[in-house]
Amino acid sequence: MSSDALKVAAAERALQYAQPKMRLGLGTGSTAAKFVDLLGARVRDGLEVVAVPTSEATRIQAAALGIPLTTLDETPLLDLTIDGADEVDDELRLIKGGGGALLREKIVAAASDRMIVIADATKRVHTLGAFALPIEIVRFGATATRNMIEMLAGDVGCHGKITVRPGKDGQPFLTDGGNLIVDCAFGRIDDPEGLDDMLKVIPGVVENGLFLGLADAAIIAGANGVEVIEANYDDTLPEDM
Ligand code: A5P
Repeated sequence: MSSDALKVAAAERALQYAQPKMRLGLGTGSTAAKFVDLLGARVRDGLEVVAVPTSEATRIQAAALGIPLTTLDETPLLDLTIDGADEVDDELRLIKGGGGALLREKIVAAASDRMIVIADATKRVHTLGAFALPIEIVRFGATATRNMIEMLAGDVGCHGKITVRPGKDGQPFLTDGGNLIVDCAFGRIDDPEGLDDMLKVIPGVVENGLFLGLADAAIIAGANGVEVIEANYDDTLPEDM
């Protein structure tokens, strides 16, 4: 099966979770785009949903397909977000942002009751980090911010080349929010939570592509079929609390 067919297979399975009257978050990227296409066909057949897109690209695609759109200001709580990922580990921790939409993707995922990741099996990893971690940073002081990322990431064992993502026109790539992306080729991230904590304290960092504790399930399509992996978050409080 081609990679495209696997993406469609994962998206088709995810469609089963889109129920009438749901408020949906629509992801970004080539896999999420397959889901948006399929959802558009269901909407044309009468499925009633409203959706918040995670990027301008997805907004344009969904609008062209006639999917009713809303915003998080009008609809701050969503039932379900379906999105792709660049890497998915055994605990359903993700790297996202290959398409540069990680900030809106994370805001939308956090506003959703459930987030389901759709991906082909090449995205499954035991340890995150082979895919360069995208980090969205503001343009002001970008070099200082980049250097601070390098220093603090090093404190949690993450070393590697950190580059400003180029755009198509030879200029730096700009996100929908007008920010830069730096891609961090760490190779492996042994402590994603520790790295996430470090990145959060850097003033110029807007958001990073580690999605920790956000995915409730992953639908992974591979040569042997489609697998649904449910997250196993233990939200029971310790007994003395
Ligand atoms: C967009 O910013 C990303 O988070 C995408 O969801 C991720 O890069 C996966 O994209 P593909 O489905 O195109 O691989």
